[in-house]
Amino acid sequence: MKFDLRLDGKIAIITGGAMGLGKGIASGLAALGARVVIADVNEEIGRESRNEIVANGGKADFHTVDVTNAEQFQKMVEEIAEQYNRIDILVNNAGIAAKTNCIDMRVEDWQRIIDINLTGSWIGSRAVAPVMMKQRSGKIINMCSMFGFVALPGLTAYAASKGGISQLTKALALELVEYNIQVNAIAPAYIATELTNNARSDPERLEDILRRTPIKRLGSIEEVVGPIIFLASDLSNFMIGHTMLVDGGWTSW
Ligand SMILES: NC(=O)c1ccc[n+]([C@@H]2O[C@H](COP(=O)([O-])OP(=O)(O)OC[C@H]3O[C@@H](n4cnc5c(N)ncnc54)[C@H](O)[C@@H]3O)[C@@H](O)[C@H]2O)c1
Repeated sequence: MKFDLRLDGKIAIITGGAMGLGKGIASGLAALGARVVIADVNEEIGRESRNEIVANGGKADFHTVDVTNAEQFQKMVEEIAEQYNRIDILVNNAGIAAKTNCIDMRVEDWQRIIDINLTGSWIGSRAVAPVMMKQRSGKIINMCSMFGFVALPGLTAYAASKGGISQLTKALALELVEYNIQVNAIAPAYIATELTNNARSDPERLEDILRRTPIKRLGSIEEVVGPIIFLASDLSNFMIGHTMLVDGGWTSW
């Protein structure tokens, strides 16, 4: 039996790859030989992250892309396909969160979360799918959350967007399976990134998070990157439509 995790020669797009989990995912895929394309709205940090990967011996590009802008995404995909003649991996990672009671939430705030987290993942998948269909291979990995399965008060839009990701993953997987494209998702619990700063810096919320987590700590970026590498590699070729919980046991109680 031979297991190969190497991604040499593969082209991978990581949305929201400028910082946090996306940056970790880009670094991890690059370390295994993939050429990574960081697609992010934050040009300054995105370019810094790209340079860091290159300084560490990886292959990386940066594109300024807002995942809610279908034209911008499409243009990037055309440029990458033209330049490298293929796209092997798309990680739909870009996402935002906000903690607001549903009655206090403005329609614009709800819409923004759904647009970036859910619609953005569909826009990205729709853009890369024709390239992957033509080459008859590909991996699309969506960033869900344990809040796609369970909820807490104040997370209506976020939880709804992530629940949608889990279903989007199944529906896309069924449409693309015949082209040898595997679509899966990953659902982490609280990880120490910018996105969870507010939750982590409030002692009461942090205590509540730790009480609810059987493993009694937050996850690290590396602990999310590992499962992503598995889903991006040939080791997961028989998996489709699956959302993998990486939650320290939060949903196991
Ligand atoms: N951190 C966690 O605890 C956690 C847990 C579960 C799921 N997630 C999910 O993981 C993903 C990444 O989270 P993170 O913690 O790294 O967040 P983060 O805030 O640290 O980074 C998010 C990145 O996405 C980019 N981004 C935001 N809006 C964008 C847009 N419209 N177009 C392109 N890029 C955009 C930001 O510029 C940033 O680089 C999100 O989808 C989030 O919901 C995070």
